[in-house]
Amino acid sequence: MSAQDEAKKVAGRRVIEEFVRDGMKLGLGSGTTSHFFVRELGKHVAGGMKLTCTTTSRSTNDVAREVGIQIVDPNDIGEIDLTIDGPDEVDRQLNMIKGGGACLLWEKIVAHASKRMICICDESKIVDQIGKFPLPVEVVQFAWKQTERMVANTLAAHGLSGVPIVRRMRDGQPVVTDSGNFILDCRCGAISEPAKLEIELNRIPGVVENGLFTREAAGMVVGCFDGTSYVSM
Ligand code: 5RP
Repeated sequence: MSAQDEAKKVAGRRVIEEFVRDGMKLGLGSGTTSHFFVRELGKHVAGGMKLTCTTTSRSTNDVAREVGIQIVDPNDIGEIDLTIDGPDEVDRQLNMIKGGGACLLWEKIVAHASKRMICICDESKIVDQIGKFPLPVEVVQFAWKQTERMVANTLAAHGLSGVPIVRRMRDGQPVVTDSGNFILDCRCGAISEPAKLEIELNRIPGVVENGLFTREAAGMVVGCFDGTSYVSM
């Protein structure tokens, strides 16, 4: 296992130690870091820990089931105590870019349905200013090229030159999200006002959600390549 994967695993264990308690309702995030966490969580559930869990993607549903964690429909769980999810990039003010795995819409809904969200990552995800990772914007398929133009205009109004590019699979077909939408990836460069950009992108008709998470995380748990971890609140 690579040092980065070990760091993800260490972070997952630390989240469980510090934040997960018997009887909680949990939102399980998406991506490889969250999947490491879910696998660790599965060991505690096998050991008798009682949790009620919902997830942010079909892929996380699959991992949870594989390790014996039953999944509840998000409509049936009520307010969630804690959601644990990983970023593609996070700054020290806990602004994040998410959506590298195309799950940003469900991730944001579940995060907002939670009393608290903890961001979980390895140390490579921490940056001074977010924006190097292409910002994903989820758009409906109808007239997506019109939406793409409006997204480019909004980025330009923020002084960002990023050209939106529809995310495609190896065979050239656009990636379709769990909700049946397309993803536009925008190479923005450093984003100086992420909270404002998050709101303005979501005002564009055709945009369903974007990958800026600026109000969700209450803290982060970081796994380091030397095998240690730390919590930053
Ligand atoms: C999926 C996401 C993931 O949480 C994000 O891409 C991080 O993934 P990984 O832990 O594999 O780096 O936002 O939409």
